[in-house]
Amino acid sequence: MTVRIDRCTCSDRTFADIAAVAKESGVVTFEELRDAADFGKRCRLCHPYVKRMLETGETVFTELIVAPENVGYEDSDPDSTPGR
Ligand code: FES
Repeated sequence: MTVRIDRCTCSDRTFADIAAVAKESGVVTFEELRDAADFGKRCRLCHPYVKRMLETGETVFTELIVAPENVGYEDSDPDSTPGR
């Protein structure tokens, strides 16, 4: 089974769309981009992917990346968890 991760599922923004916002707006930090592109404000599982996107330019990922801050994360709103 191959995974394909290409978006912030909570905001339904693709990484390609987010990359376009970064290019158009000129923002360079993750925090600036999160506000400019309006993504990543719920479960935060997309954060390590967008950070890698900023480093490499990749917008589609086939491996799971878990940020240290997401280990043990529990969402108080189960409906917001991707895949549920
Ligand atoms: S997947 Fe981006 S905030 Fe949940």
